[in-house]
Amino acid sequence: MQSKRILVTGANGQLGSEMRRLGMASPNEYIFTDVAELDITDGAAVKSFAAENNIDVIVNCAAYTAVDKAEDDEAMAELINATAVRNLAEAAKEVDATLFHVSTDYVFGAEGNTPRTEDMPTNPLGVYGRTKLHGEQAIAEVGAKAIIIRTAWLYSEYGNNFLKTMLRLTKERETLSVVFDQVGTPTYAGDLAMTIFSIIEGDYYKGNEGIYHFSNEGVCSWYDFAREIATAMGHSCNINPCHSSEFSSKVTRPPYSVLDKTKIKRTFGVDIPHWRESMIYCLKRIVMQQRAEQ
Ligand SMILES: NC(=O)c1ccc[n+]([C@@H]2O[C@H](COP(=O)([O-])OP(=O)(O)OC[C@H]3O[C@@H](n4cnc5c(N)ncnc54)[C@H](OP(=O)(O)O)[C@@H]3O)[C@@H](O)[C@H]2O)c1
Repeated sequence: MQSKRILVTGANGQLGSEMRRLGMASPNEYIFTDVAELDITDGAAVKSFAAENNIDVIVNCAAYTAVDKAEDDEAMAELINATAVRNLAEAAKEVDATLFHVSTDYVFGAEGNTPRTEDMPTNPLGVYGRTKLHGEQAIAEVGAKAIIIRTAWLYSEYGNNFLKTMLRLTKERETLSVVFDQVGTPTYAGDLAMTIFSIIEGDYYKGNEGIYHFSNEGVCSWYDFAREIATAMGHSCNINPCHSSEFSSKVTRPPYSVLDKTKIKRTFGVDIPHWRESMIYCLKRIVMQQRAEQ
């Protein structure tokens, strides 16, 4: 198999950092960039980078992910989540590369209570979801070869996320209220990165372009997730279930966010861990990291 050159954008984020860990151990050449090295909103820069570096695969881990902030910052969210994705798709098409792009469960709306398949109608409830959907549509309009993976409830040892917030709050506080009326599946960024990495390394993306769903296995509410984090860490915080309406937010979040992963499992033979197993794995890595820093 010929060696490939893979451009990873947004490589300092949660998913990008996990891709970094994996890519460094590959016989293929991974080139990691974040906004300082390659601003994906700069179309000319993206195109010349892809051409000059003979890129075969682009993995876009860059995004505007601040869901609440996006409501007041639509132009920037659209620029990063849609216009920049068009830039990447055009660059990929020019050099005949395949684009791996990551999208979100937020492209779906409030209706329905069965696991979401890739062909179900989209109906984003806010700016973030709408701009992410525009990113998906831009790829289709350009006609680039692409694997779009929608994921949900992403966490990792890197950056800020629900798992790290709960790790801290359940240690600091005696009681905590967490919503039980939003249901989905936590996704460990390391598992998503491993899936993308395996598909690239095995050349399985060729001829399998399309939209796929990926999260860990199982289903829970944010309340259940918080309780499991506290239990695993031995934190005695009393966690109470509450309604989303008890928190003021500019965005309505999809109440049912469970993704159906049948297509990605059948197409690529992916073996996906249950969310509890991956949560424990990630917590262990965080604890080990904290000990190493002390
Ligand atoms: N987080 C979730 O819960 C979640 C859920 C569903 C889907 N997703 C999707 O999963 C993907 C990965 O999410 P994540 O949580 O890993 O994101 P993240 O941690 O927010 O990382 C995104 C990275 O992109 C960088 N970036 C922003 N603008 C850029 C630009 N113009 N050019 C190059 N890089 C830029 C960011 O830099 P700065 O930090 O400096 O801005 C950051 O390093 C995204 O597509 C996201 O929409 C995430």
